[in-house]
Amino acid sequence: GAGGLLLSAPRSSAAVTTGIDPASIAKYARRMPRLPALLPHAVSPTTDYYRVTMKEAQAEVVPGFLTEVNTFDGHFPGPVLHARSGRRVVVTQTNRLGVPVSVHLHGAHVPSSSDGAPMDLIATDGGTKTYTYPNQQSHANLWFHDHAHHTESETVFRGLTATYLLRDDVETRLGLPSGRYDVPVSIRDARFDEDGQLHYEMNDFANRQVILANGRAWPYFEVAARKYRFRFYNTANLRSFALALADGSPITLIGTDGGLLAAPFQTTSVTLSPGERADVVIDFSRYPVGTELELRNVIPQPPGQPVDVAQVLQFRVTRTASDTSVVPAALRTLPPLPPATVERSFSLLMDETPPQPAYAYINGKEFDDQRIDTTITYGTTEVWTVTNANLRAPHNFHIHLVQFRVLERNGVAVTSGAESGLKDTVMLRAGETVKLQATFGGYRGVYVYHCHLFDHASMGMMAQMQVV
Ligand code: C2O
Ligand code: CU
Ligand code: CU
Repeated sequence: GAGGLLLSAPRSSAAVTTGIDPASIAKYARRMPRLPALLPHAVSPTTDYYRVTMKEAQAEVVPGFLTEVNTFDGHFPGPVLHARSGRRVVVTQTNRLGVPVSVHLHGAHVPSSSDGAPMDLIATDGGTKTYTYPNQQSHANLWFHDHAHHTESETVFRGLTATYLLRDDVETRLGLPSGRYDVPVSIRDARFDEDGQLHYEMNDFANRQVILANGRAWPYFEVAARKYRFRFYNTANLRSFALALADGSPITLIGTDGGLLAAPFQTTSVTLSPGERADVVIDFSRYPVGTELELRNVIPQPPGQPVDVAQVLQFRVTRTASDTSVVPAALRTLPPLPPATVERSFSLLMDETPPQPAYAYINGKEFDDQRIDTTITYGTTEVWTVTNANLRAPHNFHIHLVQFRVLERNGVAVTSGAESGLKDTVMLRAGETVKLQATFGGYRGVYVYHCHLFDHASMGMMAQMQVV
């Protein structure tokens, strides 16, 4: 199996030669902030209207330093937009950053004009665009990020991400932990210069060794001795995480990218490649008040990575609390899988020589916004076989417009577990192959699919489909 394969290109194993040494950053010295809620400026019977300004701000990401970051409305990472299935959201974005951007709502089922396509740019110096999100899809953990072709990798690295929680009645009536016990957590890595500024280089995986949770390096988070729901987002450019409690206790996985699983899945680690989400319940009632418990990153590391990248955050059980929440044995009925009528194959391949690969391809081609790579008849159900043709480099695969199902991984049917629900991004370790099924309906138009390691997409590992 591929379980022992490294999840990141191992060749550039040099330690950081410049910048803040991760070992010098105090671990679990500052509290992990909760992400602020974005509030609508107007509400009609059918629609919530938001105005958001993308601008630079300063944040204390590493203790003792003020870092220039890209933000939505001044927040690093961005705020949470709380949406409801069936209720429209309209967001007017104003770009006060120094680069053109395209705001993509990852995982959303939207008209292509509001998808945030790679060439559908909002100009700098106050350019605006209004995006409409119909929310004609079931609950899901969505997120905003820049998608401007070639610059998205750096713009996102500098902070342009935000959370979008889409809820519906199916989800709310289950009685899962809610309110202050329902906590989105954005996890990523970063590299800092000596003066505490973000240092971006393309494909710089080996040197991004500072782990951030909700915008702070290695924070702690105080919890009560009861159940919490965490919505983990991997917002890193290149790094995959396998999140595990340091004592090996079970984590209950209840959902993935496109919402709840059919049934909860008990696991000791939750693996997330860039762009993926895990919706979990952790029960702290088994710990006495006073317990400190690490959430660790147990993914196999390439040589040269410091021990610090295996640390993420620390839970501190500081009080008891009542808990009426439940995790029902049945969470939802997944949509049926109609028979597929079209099969296609996709191969992801890039030059594995860092730091600047010469090519990054899907089916032998770099991204070209003037070319339609795949033409799909509206309403068709298709099976896509996607292969990571690299021997060392990891990739993943994200399709816009749809939530898909993973039918097989390396020839083995996926019938239960972490990949059995609705997905929009799927991990592909070196040499792996997955079979995906999706139905392309709802909207016609041009959408992209790509590797969601932002640096790879930025280098051209992206292509276009047109639903006609
Ligand atoms: Cu999260 Cu095409 O992107
Ligand atoms: Cu997307
Ligand atoms: Cu890739």
